[in-house]
Amino acid sequence: MKKILVALLALAMVFTLVSCNKSSSSKVLVGVSMPTQSLQRWNQDGSNMVSQLKSAGYDSILQYANNDVTTQVQQIENMITKGCKILVIAAIDGSSMTDVLATAAKNNVKVIAYDRLIMQTPNVDYYATFDNYKVGQLQGKYIVDQLKLDSASGPFNIEIFAGSPDDNNAKFFFNGAMDVLKPYISSGKLVIKSGQKDFNVVAITSWTSATAQSRMDNLITANYANGTKLDAILSPNDSIAIGIVASLQSHNYGTADKPYPILTGQDCDKPNVKAVLAGQQSMSIFKDTRKLASETVTMITAMEKAQTPETNDSKTYNNGVKVVPTELLTPVFVDKSNYKSILIDSGYYKLSDIQ
Ligand code: BGC
Repeated sequence: MKKILVALLALAMVFTLVSCNKSSSSKVLVGVSMPTQSLQRWNQDGSNMVSQLKSAGYDSILQYANNDVTTQVQQIENMITKGCKILVIAAIDGSSMTDVLATAAKNNVKVIAYDRLIMQTPNVDYYATFDNYKVGQLQGKYIVDQLKLDSASGPFNIEIFAGSPDDNNAKFFFNGAMDVLKPYISSGKLVIKSGQKDFNVVAITSWTSATAQSRMDNLITANYANGTKLDAILSPNDSIAIGIVASLQSHNYGTADKPYPILTGQDCDKPNVKAVLAGQQSMSIFKDTRKLASETVTMITAMEKAQTPETNDSKTYNNGVKVVPTELLTPVFVDKSNYKSILIDSGYYKLSDIQ
């Protein structure tokens, strides 16, 4: 009898061990592919995704691709090979994922486009992002309000920058801002001295600060060297604003005679919030990456339960093959007047991060 009991107990232990093992190794694996570690926002996106996936009971692989398309495609291939069931991708070049996502589909791997839409493929299931057109509108409206374009007589001088042409978001930011600014440009209240206002002319490939800096250098030399005042600059994001500020500094802006122009941005990266507090950049757009991550994890959980994730936009984001169901979050602007309540009180930053 005793022998049988011992044998039964041993069997039970083996069984428990096996089932424990099974439950820990049967966690769904999610691959998170981010474009670059060189911008603060993507580091935050990546770590938010990993920690929130963990809390929701998923395993994850996080990789950054150094803004190199080939690297990103290879990393995603690897994630598929390693058994990821879901991929969360912020694409470097939205149109370069077609082949690798065909492989994903063959392996029944689901795909969520994260922040940036993945173009030219049927194999993207959902898109989680901020309202990109609204980002541009907020930037345009900020310039209108700060220059008091509806009451001041003007004219005011402005220069325009746009983001990277391979990023579908860039046109949305540009169109949102230009739709607000165009009436003032048409009426002559806003003047673009350089005459450069077409997306392809003002776009900064890869959102690179150094490229923005040299374009700004050229704009100043050609149009503002003789004391002509530059009143505002539309910058689509913070990395481009960094380059613009560097150029303005090297041309001695920031004095009573030559004040910094109104300058927009996006992301609320720490150096840029510091620049806002120092009066070098006027505003940035805050997109709470914690919320984007939690929205994405909510989508994943719904997909895992074979439910349809909730989305709030089913018409705007056509990737060239289909309209991708999208969850749009709301961006807000941050400047000197409201940074405390938005960035500090919400726990996003500590005061010491930005001072
Ligand atoms: C993102 C921005 C970011 C830019 C450069 C865009 O796709 O939406 O938040 O500033 O890429 O990384």
